[in-house]
Amino acid sequence: MQPLDFIYQRHSVRKFKNQDVDPTHLQEMIKAAIHAPSGKNVQNWHFVVLNNKEKIQDIVKIVEKQNDTLASWTNDENLKKEILKFKSFHTVFRGAPSLVFVFAGPYRDMAVDAYKARNASSEEIHSLLRVAPAIQNISAALENLMLTAAALGYGTCWMTGPAYAFNEIHQYLGFEKEGYFLAAMTPLGVPEEKELSSPPRKSIDEILTIID
Ligand SMILES: Cc1cc2nc3c(=O)[nH]c(=O)nc-3n(C[C@H](O)[C@H](O)[C@H](O)COP(=O)(O)O)c2cc1C
Repeated sequence: MQPLDFIYQRHSVRKFKNQDVDPTHLQEMIKAAIHAPSGKNVQNWHFVVLNNKEKIQDIVKIVEKQNDTLASWTNDENLKKEILKFKSFHTVFRGAPSLVFVFAGPYRDMAVDAYKARNASSEEIHSLLRVAPAIQNISAALENLMLTAAALGYGTCWMTGPAYAFNEIHQYLGFEKEGYFLAAMTPLGVPEEKELSSPPRKSIDEILTIID
């Protein structure tokens, strides 16, 4: 085992064995998740773990219904087809024994308040908001969780594709915490396949600029 293997052995997993997640392993994953850095150390994350297979099927139905609704809003046949085509990609968690929902809580950016105080344009305010520290915080935590899951022999798949159903899922879960919203989810379980792989990456030359 090379020191960085824990990075390279994570792959998106979309098919799972019928085997429950060990609760002590789950605790380990959450512990790793909350060791992530966060702006001003606000730790604005909350994890909801669903272990109930029937309720997971209800979540599948919620996403499928919202996908149909989305498709019904357009008369553009190509867009409609594209939306419906992604239904299966947005329900890849259907066979997982557990789902992890990551909720993001508020993160106050004082610069936004200062911009508003001088009546900055919506473009200027947007340029600050798009940095989205609240989301960067939960993303760091989710990546830690996923890397730990892989190291413990589990598979995950970061998912925001079904975001159009996140309000409905949030309501179904019945989880309430002031200012928190559902930002991402992942299935969690033992991968069905032994040999996992990922799609190719862009070359380092393409995505790296070094300024001396
Ligand atoms: C923000 C985000 C959203 C994603 N949403 C989905 C999704 O809805 N469904 C899915 O099957 N995969 C989803 N993925 C997984 C990507 O397709 C996957 O990470 C990418 O193809 C690279 O493959 P790898 O994870 O195996 O390295 C998502 C990944 C990220 C980071």
